[in-house]
Amino acid sequence: MPLSSKLPHIGTTIFTVMSRMAAEEGAINLSQGYPGFGADPLLLDLVGKYTREGYNQYAPMAGIPQLRKVLAEKTKLTQGYFPDPELEVTIVSGATEAIFSAVTAIVRSGDEVLVLEPAYDSYEPAITLNGGTPVYVPLRASDFSVDWEKVSAAISSKTRAILVNSPHNPSGYVWTEGDLEQLAALVRNRDIYVVSDEVYEHITFDGIRHISLGAHPELKSKTFVCGSFGKTFHVTGWKIGYCIAPENLTAEFRKVHQYVTFSTVTPIQYALAEYLIHPDRYLSIPGFYERKRDVFVKGLEKTGLHFSPSQGSFFQLASYGHLSQVSDRVLAERMTRELKVACIPTSVFYSDKRDDKIIRFCFAKEEAELQEALRRLGGLGSIL
Ligand SMILES: Cc1ncc(COP(=O)(O)O)c(C=O)c1O
Repeated sequence: MPLSSKLPHIGTTIFTVMSRMAAEEGAINLSQGYPGFGADPLLLDLVGKYTREGYNQYAPMAGIPQLRKVLAEKTKLTQGYFPDPELEVTIVSGATEAIFSAVTAIVRSGDEVLVLEPAYDSYEPAITLNGGTPVYVPLRASDFSVDWEKVSAAISSKTRAILVNSPHNPSGYVWTEGDLEQLAALVRNRDIYVVSDEVYEHITFDGIRHISLGAHPELKSKTFVCGSFGKTFHVTGWKIGYCIAPENLTAEFRKVHQYVTFSTVTPIQYALAEYLIHPDRYLSIPGFYERKRDVFVKGLEKTGLHFSPSQGSFFQLASYGHLSQVSDRVLAERMTRELKVACIPTSVFYSDKRDDKIIRFCFAKEEAELQEALRRLGGLGSIL
């Protein structure tokens, strides 16, 4: 009996495709968004310690109290507000789970959910699987800032939620205070919730500061803030993140979370709880990545590609439409096979696969690897 797919339009993600091709071709993989270097050995030792000491059974459903408390303290230090660790903080299995559980908690059949695109690929399936309809609003092509008039025009009586992401993947755009005010004005007096994907909260550059929606006096009452320890501490394979939301929203969120995963990997929670006690371990992250961004954009200047230096995240976009009209997918493939550098075509981040001739690089790699990739990109002219 053929299984009628609930997600007939979804195939293997481009991230898997490009990473596989990069491996086959022996290419430097600047496609998928994961760090090419190890975590702090101290953090690894802590995981070893807690596994050996027997912290290997189910954690409490909402996360261990120590980690929730230290996360609330981090939030106070970096964002100026202290979420209640008991009632407003939940530890989950990666930001992907946080987003899925938040969307599942609020979206019902027939609801519309606004998605600003280009967008991370997990948003749409989360909405669709819950019977909702994604309503896409394009970001401004010039700098990927939000066109608030377009967002306002997309709101209808069916709008149940809006999914936002800052620092933004793939563009690196970081929301300003003005953006938060515009969003607050739009959802004021409306039953619209906000799911805020803030996985790159600690990766911003040039003195730009990430402002969490949870820190906004009005937005905080309607927002699920989704974060990722995996992204912050170079351990994406650990799949551990969190959701901060007001008590009433957290109560509904946890009802979903407890049946999606029930709880999240125990020894890693203990390790993170101890590791996070020292703020320099996350306060040093922006400088660490800014050096990599600087190395990468300095080299990129010599390639003939057009770009504005990324404001945040570990991604850099670059456009090539002034050099060639080849499709971004074809170019990404040629770069992988012929130059041995893999990247991501940004058309994949759009629902209509619109091709603006822009590619995305991940610069979360060792400097020597970035330099070698840049050297290889010197041959770009030969494949355009
Ligand atoms: C914007 C964005 N949100 C969420 C995630 C997923 O985070 P996690 O690995 O914690 O599930 C990613 C990972 O690439 C991402 O780029």
